[in-house]
Amino acid sequence: MSKTPIGIIGCGNISKIYAEAGKKFENLDIVACADIDSARAQALAKDFGIPKAVSVEELLTDSGIAVVVNLTVPAVHGEVALKALKNGKHVYNEKPLALRRHEARQMIGLAREKKLRIGCAPDTFLGGGLQTCRKLIDDGAIGEPIGGSGFMLSRGVEGWHPNPEFFYKKGAGPLFDMGPYYLTAFTTLLGPVRRVTGSARISYKKREITSQPLAGQTIAVDVPTHVTGVLDFEAGPVVTLTTSFDVSAHRLPNIEIYGSEGTLAVPDPNTFGGPVLLRRRGEEAWREIPLEFGYADNSRGIGVSDMAAAIAHGREHRANDRVAYHVLDIMHSIIDASETGRHVEMNSTMSRPEPLPLGLMPGRVEL
Ligand SMILES: NC(=O)c1ccc[n+]([C@@H]2O[C@H](COP(=O)([O-])OP(=O)(O)OC[C@H]3O[C@@H](n4cnc5c(N)ncnc54)[C@H](O)[C@@H]3O)[C@@H](O)[C@H]2O)c1
Repeated sequence: MSKTPIGIIGCGNISKIYAEAGKKFENLDIVACADIDSARAQALAKDFGIPKAVSVEELLTDSGIAVVVNLTVPAVHGEVALKALKNGKHVYNEKPLALRRHEARQMIGLAREKKLRIGCAPDTFLGGGLQTCRKLIDDGAIGEPIGGSGFMLSRGVEGWHPNPEFFYKKGAGPLFDMGPYYLTAFTTLLGPVRRVTGSARISYKKREITSQPLAGQTIAVDVPTHVTGVLDFEAGPVVTLTTSFDVSAHRLPNIEIYGSEGTLAVPDPNTFGGPVLLRRRGEEAWREIPLEFGYADNSRGIGVSDMAAAIAHGREHRANDRVAYHVLDIMHSIIDASETGRHVEMNSTMSRPEPLPLGLMPGRVEL
């Protein structure tokens, strides 16, 4: 199997799991890493045996690199991706795709012009849990989907993340930080959204960091931290989604999907595994459905591997820019709806990516 040479830009908290993906997936070869903080790039290279820690500029102009994996903070996702594309490289961004819609559209336009690919996290929808849900829905286990609920309720990130400021700035907040997991799960299960409405608030204007090393510092909050959206899907289901960094306790599920013949309890979409629970109409108890697909452990990077395989074989990749742009558009539209007090019709659409095949060998995304 030929390996695709990958360069990582942004060597912070999440970069380690991507560095591991370089060992886990057969078709990936992480050849270099870079960060504006060169010590971080050097540490990642040393810890994971990545051959070169280089400057961002060197990585972007390295002719030996085919795909840039962009793990920078959301504020610069668009800027770094555009530079990668301008240098003739495919790019795979951490979520969200970009801060603003126009920046994302600029990326997509440039990629089309240069015949390059854009991929984007999350790729958790390719995990064993969500792929099993997809198969159950497609096989008719809950009949015709009618609606759903999603809840991502927490007390925020300043208690555990070493550098939590960006979570309260444009491009983050609970909706833009965690919403992509939920919205990617919903759209890859139920298809595109037709219109949305919603309400959002900032509950605390300042947040105190309690994690090390920045404990005691305060963060000025620039984005809503409690957001509820209502989504009408093109195929008919109506879904509510609440994301919050202001909730200290709750008893709500991650995701449920309600159908004419039963209800599916979908696992946490920020994970790759289960449990997947099904209760069909008339049944008295929930049944745990065994996962039919692999990649139930933390398999971040599977989307990069799938994009590399798709480039090699000329097929569409699954964690693609159309899904990521639609998700970005939904999130902005929920905020727009809250600000203007109306429903917002979606200007974007997508089609559900192909499910993964059953029976994949570990480390592979194709049979
Ligand atoms: N931490 C998590 O658990 C987690 C999980 C999933 C996804 N993500 C996403 O991954 C991305 C990174 O998150 P993180 O937690 O690793 O953040 P982080 O702050 O720990 O790391 C980001 C890194 O990017 C570098 N950087 C910033 N601007 C840069 C630029 N212009 N060029 C090069 N490097 C630059 C920073 O120096 C830093 O090392 C975010 O988009 C986040 O939403 C994070």
